[in-house]
Amino acid sequence: MPAEIGRRRFLKGIVTAGVAGLSLSGLTRAAEAQGLSLPPTLACGDDDDEVTEAQTEGPYFTPNSPERTNFREAGFAGTNIVLTGLVVTRSCRPVPQALVELWHCDDGGTYDNAGYKGRGHTFTDALGTYRFETIVPGLYPGRTRHFHLKFQAPNNPVLTTQFYFPGEPGNLRDGIFSDELLLEIASEPELTGWFTTVLDIA
Ligand SMILES: [Fe+2]
Repeated sequence: MPAEIGRRRFLKGIVTAGVAGLSLSGLTRAAEAQGLSLPPTLACGDDDDEVTEAQTEGPYFTPNSPERTNFREAGFAGTNIVLTGLVVTRSCRPVPQALVELWHCDDGGTYDNAGYKGRGHTFTDALGTYRFETIVPGLYPGRTRHFHLKFQAPNNPVLTTQFYFPGEPGNLRDGIFSDELLLEIASEPELTGWFTTVLDIA
C-alpha cells in the first residue's frame, strides 16, 4: 500500500474517532504510535483518486437482506470482529442515512444462499458512521479473505465494493484484491476493522 494513501486513510480514522469523543491527546498518541504527526488541516477529497474503488459484487449477493447490525447467531460463529467505518463525500463531508449493505461467508468459507446468515444492512448515523458486529470471514477457493459491501447515499448511485485484511497470504494470489481496500485493523479492546469510504458525490 502506498504510504501516503495509508497515512491519509489513518488520519481520516483519527478525525472520526475525535468526533466520536476520544480526547485529542489520545488521538495524538495514537498518531505518534503510527509514526505520524497531525497536520493543522487534514487534506481530504482533494482529487478523484480518493473515491473508493468499486469492485464486482460476485455471485453470492442476495437482495432484500434484513436491517440489522449483529450477524452473530447459531450457525454463524467464529472469530468475532467489529466492522465499522465512516462514509464521506469527495469533499470529506460525512454522509448520514447512507445505506450500508454487508454480506460475507461463514467461518468455513460458505455463503448462506438460501437464507440471510451473514447478510444485513444498516444506515449511517448523523456522523456518517456505521458498525456491524460479525465474524471474520473464512476462505474459499480462488479468493483471499474479504467482506462484500454496497454503499448508497440517499438518491445517489450504489457503490459495490469489497474490503480486505492486511497481511493475508491470499492477497498476493487474488486477482480481484486491491490494496486500496485494506481495512485498518485494531485488536484492542476488541478485534475491529475500519474503513473510510469516499463516495463519488460532491
Ligand atoms: Fe465473496
